[in-house]
Amino acid sequence: MLYIGVDLGTSAVKLLLMDGSGKVLNIVSKEYPLYFPKPGWSEQKPEDWYAASIEGIKELVKGFDAGQVAGISFGGQMHGLVVLDENDNVIRPAILWNDGRTTKECDYLNNVIGKDKLSEYTANIAFTGFTAPKILWMKENEPENFAKICKIMLPKDYIAYKLSGVHCTDVSDASGMLLFDVKNRCWSKEMCEICGVKESQLAKIFESYETVGTLKADVAAELGIPATCKIVAGAGDNAAAAVGTGTVGDGNCNISLGTSGTIFISSKNFGVDSFNALHAFAHADGHYHLMGCMLSAASCNKWWMDEIIGTKDYAAEQKAIEKLGENHVYFLPYLMGERSPINNPMARGTFIGLTMDSTRADMTQAVLEGVAFALRDSFEVARALGINIERTKICGGGAKSPLWKKMIANILNVKVDVIDVEEGPSMGGAMLAAVANGEFASVEDAASKIVKIVDTVEPDPELVAKYEERYAQFKEIYPACKPLFDIITK
Ligand code: XUL
Repeated sequence: MLYIGVDLGTSAVKLLLMDGSGKVLNIVSKEYPLYFPKPGWSEQKPEDWYAASIEGIKELVKGFDAGQVAGISFGGQMHGLVVLDENDNVIRPAILWNDGRTTKECDYLNNVIGKDKLSEYTANIAFTGFTAPKILWMKENEPENFAKICKIMLPKDYIAYKLSGVHCTDVSDASGMLLFDVKNRCWSKEMCEICGVKESQLAKIFESYETVGTLKADVAAELGIPATCKIVAGAGDNAAAAVGTGTVGDGNCNISLGTSGTIFISSKNFGVDSFNALHAFAHADGHYHLMGCMLSAASCNKWWMDEIIGTKDYAAEQKAIEKLGENHVYFLPYLMGERSPINNPMARGTFIGLTMDSTRADMTQAVLEGVAFALRDSFEVARALGINIERTKICGGGAKSPLWKKMIANILNVKVDVIDVEEGPSMGGAMLAAVANGEFASVEDAASKIVKIVDTVEPDPELVAKYEERYAQFKEIYPACKPLFDIITK
């Protein structure tokens, strides 16, 4: 049998075809536009996602026996607000995970309702990218649209709905809505009331590896895939990436270097970050995880390369970087504001430390190091919680750079395990589809049989010591700039 994993990302949908043994047969990617209607706002059209997914699936199975496709599942960009009216039409463009328009709503939730109550109801506090503040924003700013809402869903669940006709979500993605009681894996009645949402507008909840339905007959005919093909709930992209990299069970770590940058720590037990910096979410393996999310990671490098330097040859730029741990230029990677751990939508990207002898390579290096330093900020929170991380997996576009992996290993002082398939969410999605079809006994069983470590990047004590000094300096920059960010974003 064959399985399809759909990774509904922010820059593109990435699709992966896998056989029942976990062997990857084909990978396809289709881009779609991202809109920034105002500074700090971020939107996409769900119709674009669907069109790209359908086109991508057709291309993915070309040359293979599409009649053998037994399951489709997902990893999807989290937190996005997708709203449908009573005729299933999309009411407005989706408001994405990296959209910062809901400062006022987050202030209300965190300060008037209160962080303690939010944490009691959902295990988390409000961040601008989360779904519930966006619902409050719509209620206040677009009351006519708010009144039309019949169904509320997350990005990947829109695709699942179009494919199966089932309004569904999974526990990991639902966790990022701030409407979900993570500990008990059900909707929070209190949060629904606070946001003016009826439970009937929300999706039916599934574990990530559960089947929600089968392919609708008309879609099956269009794709040439049997209508018996199972649509499996899937997971938020980080939980799906964790499955894809074998970050399941207890105390394992994955770093995702995609548009966002995350550290993901799997846990058998439910636990909350008392500092409210890391998210406490349900995991796709049936358990839980903690996660720190930075809003711009590989996207900082993409911005620097594509928009500013104007090159597509990332490897050539990185080749010019020679002296690790000795750069006097620093970069704050806050191009979309920042979530973990500083939680400040008004933070901005910043170069500091430039002199007449600073080179283009120093600035490229600063961008890569800035992302790694900011990831370390979230790592430090985990360490303060007593979580000792000695090694991590890594995935996402940025993980293709050996230099970036070396920086991460040394800046975080962890061993970085490189796996054979670094696709992350699409691989995890395909694995969840295979689990639902009985190819594996559980998500953990699938991970242990499929994921293979092919290399490990070891930290070098001398470089670790150099970077320790650099990190101490980096840590001083944001607090000093913070008052300026408040002024320049007024
Ligand atoms: C996680 C988050 C991002 C998106 C990116 O909380 O907001 O990682 O899921 O796709």
